[in-house]
Amino acid sequence: MFLGLDVGTSGVKAVLEDEAGALIASAGRPLALSHPQPLWSEQNPDHWVEAVIGAVDDLARERPRETAAVRGIGLSGQMHGATLLNRDGRPLRPAILWNDGRSQAECAELERRCPELHAIAGNLAMPGFTAPKLVWVAKHEPKIFAEVAKVLLPKAYVRYRLSGEMVEDMSDAAGTLWLDVGARRWSEKLLAATGLDLDHMPRLVEGNERSAVLSPELARRWGMGADVVIAGGAGDNAASAIGLGAITPGDAFLSLGTSGVLFRVTDRFAPAPEAAVHAFCHALGGLWHQMGVMLSAAASLAWLARLLETPEAALLAPLGISVDRPSPVQFLPYLDGERTPHNDAHAAGALVGLRSAAGRADLVQAVLEGVAFASRDMFAALARSAQPITELDLVGGGSRSLLWAQIMADVLGVTVHRVEEGEVGAAIGASRLGRLAATGEAPADVCRKPQRLQSFEPRAPQRAAYDDAYAQWRKLYPALKECIS
Ligand code: XUL
Repeated sequence: MFLGLDVGTSGVKAVLEDEAGALIASAGRPLALSHPQPLWSEQNPDHWVEAVIGAVDDLARERPRETAAVRGIGLSGQMHGATLLNRDGRPLRPAILWNDGRSQAECAELERRCPELHAIAGNLAMPGFTAPKLVWVAKHEPKIFAEVAKVLLPKAYVRYRLSGEMVEDMSDAAGTLWLDVGARRWSEKLLAATGLDLDHMPRLVEGNERSAVLSPELARRWGMGADVVIAGGAGDNAASAIGLGAITPGDAFLSLGTSGVLFRVTDRFAPAPEAAVHAFCHALGGLWHQMGVMLSAAASLAWLARLLETPEAALLAPLGISVDRPSPVQFLPYLDGERTPHNDAHAAGALVGLRSAAGRADLVQAVLEGVAFASRDMFAALARSAQPITELDLVGGGSRSLLWAQIMADVLGVTVHRVEEGEVGAAIGASRLGRLAATGEAPADVCRKPQRLQSFEPRAPQRAAYDDAYAQWRKLYPALKECIS
């Protein structure tokens, strides 16, 4: 039996998979976010640990026999979060998360201090990444900075509390801006640009390698044996890729979670920083990936649902499963700033083209389309540096909507597949990495592709109409930049 633990932003997920790869049980605990100032986004690291332990307690209560049989654990987690620990391994302040935009000025500072940053880290300095957050702490909270003994990412902090070991995997480490992504090792040059050195970093392993062993105390609590292996694991996007069997160069998927991610596997380190494309290590040795990231995807629909005090399903129902023409209203989904392609943490959202005739359905459709147009921007950014993507799997909470899937196919002009278990992807990927570390099996034997439930083809007339609407939509950000950034 194998256990996958995903430390997400809005909650923790725990899944149990059996030796045949079947999902046996899952449990979850919610997590709260705190925004003490505009652009700030923080969480208490100990809440991740309590939520993980609580979720596994639930599994152990509901499935005691299966939980006791776990021999491998994999971790996945929200990327980039700066978790600052003192000499005693205690957090010095709340973790500063991936969707925190406070460090835009520090990004410019970092790029000035280390002109080789793009070449080594393969990425632009963006406020979401970890290094600029430390430059911000050094400047604004110097006493705390002076006490920093280790910097961990969210799932590495959870690993530390589960096992006592400070270890990070390559895919998550790549999102810090301290990794030499091509060479898969920490870069002393990049660390020095942030006022840190190798001692501040955890040990590195590949995602499918053994990183630690579950502490005897927790093993006893859950009735497990003495040698439960914890795998390196992966950042949530690379973990989703493992869950989707995306381990062959060219495999691609689009995740509509809180954030929106377009992910493509590459056989080499393929940076394209000019379009704010992320180039990171994959969770398996010898593989890398590219990613476009938008900060509010399914979060945009959740925002509208909150605003209109109507559940998302009730907002979507009147639109049916397809629409014939683009909404007369256009939406920029930059509610929490933007990464690919604009790299503008200060950007805000916009609804444009409102007339008195505009109804609720037009706004809902505009939000779905705005996210689809922003996905097309990410498509264009990734297309600049490699083969075009011709089909992709749609995953994450947003993939529940058949309407959104059809809009994506029409806007992107590629076949879009909905897949089985598309919503628990990262936790499944984590459990597979736990299995690989425990058994030493070949990744291709374990990372199988899920069943495709339904495929959506682009429809010619809608595609043409969306080409025009996208061309219009593209003009909005440059035109509004001065007002919304
Ligand atoms: C990726 C990113 C997000 C978080 C969300 O660069 O910032 O996808 O990993 O959990």
